[in-house]
Amino acid sequence: MGWLRWGPREALPYDARFDHRFDESARAEAYGPAYPSGWYHLLDSAEVPKGTVRPVDALGRHLAVFRDEAGGVHVLDAHCPHQGASLAHGRVSGEHLTCPFHAWAFDGDGALAGIPGLDRCPRTGVASHPVAERHGMIWMYHDVSGARVEPPYAAAEVGPIVDRAMTYRGRHDAGEVRMHVAEVIENSVDFQHFAVVHDGLTVPWTTWTIPGGGLDHTPDWYVDEEHAHIAYFEDDSVVTWRGQTMEGSRSLARVTMFGPAGVVWFHFQIPTLGEVVLFQTHLPLSPTRQRVRFRWFADPAVASPWAWITVGQWVAQWKADLRIWQNKVYQPRPVLVPIDGPVHRMRRWYKQFTVSDAPRRVADAR
Ligand code: FES
Ligand SMILES: [Fe+2]
Repeated sequence: MGWLRWGPREALPYDARFDHRFDESARAEAYGPAYPSGWYHLLDSAEVPKGTVRPVDALGRHLAVFRDEAGGVHVLDAHCPHQGASLAHGRVSGEHLTCPFHAWAFDGDGALAGIPGLDRCPRTGVASHPVAERHGMIWMYHDVSGARVEPPYAAAEVGPIVDRAMTYRGRHDAGEVRMHVAEVIENSVDFQHFAVVHDGLTVPWTTWTIPGGGLDHTPDWYVDEEHAHIAYFEDDSVVTWRGQTMEGSRSLARVTMFGPAGVVWFHFQIPTLGEVVLFQTHLPLSPTRQRVRFRWFADPAVASPWAWITVGQWVAQWKADLRIWQNKVYQPRPVLVPIDGPVHRMRRWYKQFTVSDAPRRVADAR
């Protein structure tokens, strides 16, 4: 392995030596709302079989995600209005979720449906949240205000997965990272960092860099013309070897940022074979802690090892970003220079997710 060297950007998932630098709450506050409006990936469909319930602590809430025995999935605020037990530790019976404490039963909309031993029960319940299942993932819509609103746009269905019969190829749970969710989008317009953080050719899935190898990037960022909640980041990259550009290695990656980066997906084109679609999802567990998951799909002609390498190349670049993200703060007024990307344009776009859709509110938390 002499031709490999442990690169200068070795993975530092979180550098605890810097803990003392941050008052986490002050750090978090600078970013604005911790849980911007958007769709978030709570769990995979397979994690919630029929007749089961799972707890999820995220987006400032304690949630119960359950699948009724007919197969429908529901997301409820978990604390029971009776004496506060967690419905997320209850059990599913038919179409109801039953509290573990005194067995009150709630329906998929969160309404109280029955109390053992009583013919009538009070009109009460818990808040329910908009939910969608897409490509093996359970997504929930969250409004920045915390109110339950009608989602202003539907959860995405990624066309090629549906139309071209792409198949599921793999998953990687990356655990938790210490950053605000906004950092993902901030990064997409930071064109200057590509030549510093992402200039190395790395071994997939690692931060091992290959001496002599390099990557040149030509990034672009723009908002979808029809859907204001979607922005794209494109990267035209090419491998360099000892300073020479390897034209045959040129490839285009397009990243779709669906809202405030709860769900992001990549289209990687593999010459002559087809495409890999990679989902990267961020679930805010607290203002500066994100759970990160990767799930990927590929066209039939793309062999799974190719898909794995393609995804691994991206994950290597993502790891290179982590050391920066987890140890940085938000600059409300960054000192920008002409070679920086469209930071202000992106921040104007991002602002829509920090303003409530509460006028579309459909039901108060009961
Ligand atoms: S606390 Fe839930 S039924 Fe009593
Ligand atoms: Fe980056």
